[in-house]
Amino acid sequence: MNRKTLALSLALAAIGLVQAAAAETAGDTYKAKCAMCHGADGTGNTPAGKAMKARDFHDADVVKASDADLIGAITKGKNKMPAYGAKFTPDEIKGLVAYIRTIQK
Ligand code: HEC
Repeated sequence: MNRKTLALSLALAAIGLVQAAAAETAGDTYKAKCAMCHGADGTGNTPAGKAMKARDFHDADVVKASDADLIGAITKGKNKMPAYGAKFTPDEIKGLVAYIRTIQK
């Protein structure tokens, strides 16, 4: 491996670490702020989730919904779902949607 390829692979490794850290932060945020209603597994099978009729993230409708729809629900709120547009940056909200996509599987 020459110096250039070494530098390139180090840079790629660093990007990988940053992305992993971002995903972890979204997961932590989800557990701290969203799981009480949506459940750690996204089923909404919690006392608050059931009382407010939080939909299971595995529901076909939610799986089919575009990222923009989910971003909109988180940013602006939806019925009993609180609006988080003032609490998180658009990037953090995108990260939360990416995290929801991982638990939908
Ligand atoms: C107080 C309970 C509560 C909390 C906390 C909460 N949600 Fe929700 N959320 C709901 C309810 C209830 C709905 C269903 C709204 C509807 O369709 O009537 C919902 C809907 C959603 C939807 C749209 C999917 C759908 O069912 O249409 C997304 C995405 C979502 N929540 C993400 C989040 C994220 C991310 C967080 C944390 C930042 C969060 N929620 C925190 C109650 C909550």
